[in-house]
Amino acid sequence: MKEAKTSVMQSNAVITAIGTYVPERILTNADLEKLVDTNDEWIIQRTGIKERRIAGDMQFTSHLCFKAVLNMVERYGADVSDVDYIITATSTPDAVFPSVSSQVQAHFGIADCGAADIQAACAGFASAIQLANGLLLSGAYHKILVIGAETLSKITDYTDRTTCILFGDGAGAFLIEASDDGNGDILSVYAKTDGSRGHLLYRSSLSPSLDGHDLLENGYIVQNGREVYRWAVSHVSEGINQLIGRSQLSVDEIDWFIPHSANMRIIESLCERTGFPLSRTLSSIQRFGNTSAASIPLAIDQAVQAGKITSGQLLLLYGFGGGLTQSGVVLRWSI
Ligand code: COA
Repeated sequence: MKEAKTSVMQSNAVITAIGTYVPERILTNADLEKLVDTNDEWIIQRTGIKERRIAGDMQFTSHLCFKAVLNMVERYGADVSDVDYIITATSTPDAVFPSVSSQVQAHFGIADCGAADIQAACAGFASAIQLANGLLLSGAYHKILVIGAETLSKITDYTDRTTCILFGDGAGAFLIEASDDGNGDILSVYAKTDGSRGHLLYRSSLSPSLDGHDLLENGYIVQNGREVYRWAVSHVSEGINQLIGRSQLSVDEIDWFIPHSANMRIIESLCERTGFPLSRTLSSIQRFGNTSAASIPLAIDQAVQAGKITSGQLLLLYGFGGGLTQSGVVLRWSI
């Protein structure tokens, strides 16, 4: 049996800048009422979502990433010219290849830079932070751009009222650098996967539909909402408690809880089962809907800009979704 790791783990990774971007077009619940048989009251009561952002027809995930990184450069004076690795977490790359990360490298003309996308659905951003921490700790790289970005509107079926009310588009980026003194901000990590439940939430591409139905050709998101909800409330709350245990911190010592913005009702249940009060919980669900890999940096940046998150505070980030995947990080915010 594998030993449970109760680490306060090794890290030399310091988050030095954040940037975000959402497309200008807003899709409100009233707009959705014109597309499908739904209503504002039902959507707010079941999900907490008021509106989402939708990319233009010719605006793809890489374009959102360019703007998020530019936002970081403008706000923090961040220098990305010497970034030596780019990791983009996305389920909606412009193309299978070239990667979104490669396009970011080209856009900013970054020389001597590795680039790779990862796909862990809504657990993507926390997974990418974990990978970046390992790469920095190895000594092989010194400055990494970690991006979570999606254009989920391009894979959403706007005739299906059970999914189209949920998803939106956006991007968020962290610049993560190796510290000179070896003291990093990543305090603990946790990840868990249950591939046997993969058919509950998927987007088919080359494979037949995962839930035993006919071959799905349209490439839209398919989910069993009720089962995903059940899984999130029970299994994800267990995962978060595992991560809290590994951090050797109490819930009271962690300043902010940032679960993936899947659904406000799920977030409320996670709070109940982990002990985090809603007053110390951040989400981007109300304004942006479920933006998958982008939801956590969007929620963090809203709080940074509102002056809620300040330097020295401890954050617990927790992504969960398609796979079914879970991935979390406890980190110190030192910007
Ligand atoms: N507007 C109005 N009615 C709707 C609707 C909509 N947009 N979508 C579904 N309904 C109806 C259903 O047809 C059903 O009607 P019926 O009772 O007459 O059959 C009723 O509402 C209840 O449907 P159900 O699917 O049981 O709703 P729910 O309470 O489970 O809520 C979700 C649906 C999708 C909001 C909810 O299951 C959910 O959020 N699941 C998690 C999804 C998620 O977060 N996925 C991403 C994870 S990263």
